[in-house]
Amino acid sequence: MKKVEISPSILASDFKKLDHEIKDIVNGGAKYLHFDVMDGQFVNNISFGIPVLKSLKEGNYPLIFDVHLMIINPENYVEEFLKAGADILTIHYEAVNPDEIERISEMVHKENKKLGLSIKPKTNVSEIINYLKFVDLVLVMSVEPGFGGQKFINDSILKIEELNLLKEKYNYDYLIEVDGGVNIETAKLCKEAGANVLVAGSYIFKSKDRKEAIDSLR
Ligand code: DX5
Ligand code: ZN
Repeated sequence: MKKVEISPSILASDFKKLDHEIKDIVNGGAKYLHFDVMDGQFVNNISFGIPVLKSLKEGNYPLIFDVHLMIINPENYVEEFLKAGADILTIHYEAVNPDEIERISEMVHKENKKLGLSIKPKTNVSEIINYLKFVDLVLVMSVEPGFGGQKFINDSILKIEELNLLKEKYNYDYLIEVDGGVNIETAKLCKEAGANVLVAGSYIFKSKDRKEAIDSLR
């Protein structure tokens, strides 16, 4: 089985000691850090945004900042999020005018950063086929975006398999990331289906030993 990377979602961490929480997952072997940015419009929740990202970037942690924008009209904020420290910037297909995706990818690549495109559980892979050539990562939402701690939707496995087949067929090199309800059982299914990066919030931050949690997902 392929090697997977784990992207712990700080949404599930203890915000009053963020620095400590992040150091804990660095020590646990994580290479990514997942930021769930929510605007109260695309999803029914509001989380955090540019100032928090910027401040954590100044922490110089050895982590790839994996920023998941659950916001409408993300093109208006691409530059600011890149400037604040996003290494991978993922937008939602449902939140953007698809005609803008190519232009957004140029903006992101000009800064030597990576663009991700995410689909919600009810969006089919077939809908984004024409845009796969512009992106470096596809994020399969395995829960309805908005909240951590939900149950993994099993149909997501089929999407991972489909994205893997398309990747081979067209010789694309995007990473396949899965987000929502990832635990030891669902991580195994995602890996078998060919996922490259697994986002996990509750599973990692609610366990006492974060290294053990991260290792068990790998
Ligand atoms: C949901 C977020 C997820 C979430 C994952 O909108 O995109 O990243 O934090 O949390 P868990 O792992 O708890 O399902
Ligand atoms: Zn996320």
